[in-house]
Amino acid sequence: MAKVIVFFVLFNITILNAQDSYTFEAGHESLQEWLLPKQVPFPPNNKPNQDRVELGKKLFFDPRLSGDGNMSCASCHNPMLGWSDGLKTAKGHKSQILRRATPSIINAGYNTIQMWDGRNASLEEQATGPLVAEMEMHANMDHLISWLSLNNTYRNDFDRSYPGEGVSVKTLAKAIASYERTIVSRNSPFDAWVAGDESALTAKEVSGFKIFVDPKKGNCEVCHSAPNFTDNGFHNIGLKPLLRKDIDLGRYDFIPLESLKRAFKTPTLRDVAYSAPYFHDGSAESLQQSIEHYIDGLEGAQNLSLNMKSITLTDSEVIDLTAFLKSLSSPKKMMKFPILP
Ligand code: HEC
Ligand code: HEC
Repeated sequence: MAKVIVFFVLFNITILNAQDSYTFEAGHESLQEWLLPKQVPFPPNNKPNQDRVELGKKLFFDPRLSGDGNMSCASCHNPMLGWSDGLKTAKGHKSQILRRATPSIINAGYNTIQMWDGRNASLEEQATGPLVAEMEMHANMDHLISWLSLNNTYRNDFDRSYPGEGVSVKTLAKAIASYERTIVSRNSPFDAWVAGDESALTAKEVSGFKIFVDPKKGNCEVCHSAPNFTDNGFHNIGLKPLLRKDIDLGRYDFIPLESLKRAFKTPTLRDVAYSAPYFHDGSAESLQQSIEHYIDGLEGAQNLSLNMKSITLTDSEVIDLTAFLKSLSSPKKMMKFPILP
């Protein structure tokens, strides 16, 4: 009996301490869960190789894939703008304003679910959506596949990348997904600090990390969890709906559970400094504003995620937390644009 009680007590302590069991020293074992695996996961039928990645890169940057030849994936997921577009909500075909913000696609390959409402599971599944969306690239898929097949360089690229599979909707999606799996951020100052470089973070940034993981302070880690700063889950964080007829219900459109009304996917925070404005509706202009939402933006909010609680932070804690979020960005890389065939 005594043994059972001892076990029970120990077990409980482990659970209670699960969130604040870090030792805040560069390189400490307790922090290693924050390091991303070097290999981005991929499906068994689409193992990345150089040919596939290079083909996917051309496709990603090629505006001729769109209906009117004006828009590529990179028009909205622009590497100069943190793989997003700097806009409140996206601008699509013929400059129509879409209802949601363009998310960064940095580290999307590490996530198990895609889109603000989670309507796609894999990058392969996602890739053809924007191509044919009326409001986005507005392409006719049959025309597009025959155009790609008639372009000698593209046809050869497809044959080399996917021998025997041909130029098809499937191989088009697989090539784009292979390229997206190379768009990663895992050498930020924070990563260097976790790996053991004490000088990589300032004292304020470390203090911001403590606030981030402390359930009694920021309480951020509960949703923005290790290693990619997302739980791949959906939460209503109390953003006020925009005043319009068709309120965006988020995940609820796919799974009509009350708790998922206006719940959106927890985005990664890696490279977050590069992709303002923030949230699915672009309503926060800066990182500081997005933090302020968690402090005093919840008044009158309904149907909040159970993981949300009202938090109180001093001005200097907000500054530290902002500094920490900025330390999650990898240095900008030189980007070589592909030569289009
Ligand atoms: C007109 C702007 C626009 C274009 C063009 C566009 N996207 Fe997007 N992208 C968006 C928006 C907006 C979302 C979020 C939509 C939603 O959640 O409802 C998104 C979401 C995504 C996501 C999910 C990211 C995440 O974290 O959930 C991926 C991946 C993606 N796009 C890749 C692509 C690819 C590949 C192309 C080209 C074939 C492309 N996009 C073209 C605006 C665009
Ligand atoms: C209940 C889960 C939850 C908690 C707790 C939480 N977040 Fe979030 N966070 C989300 C979700 C979900 C979104 C997207 C919400 C939306 O746009 O509707 C988000 C969005 C963000 C964004 C915008 C990112 C972007 O690319 O648009 C930032 C920055 C952010 N959170 C930081 C924080 C910080 C800092 C804390 C702690 C003070 C925190 N979050 C606590 C779930 C959470």
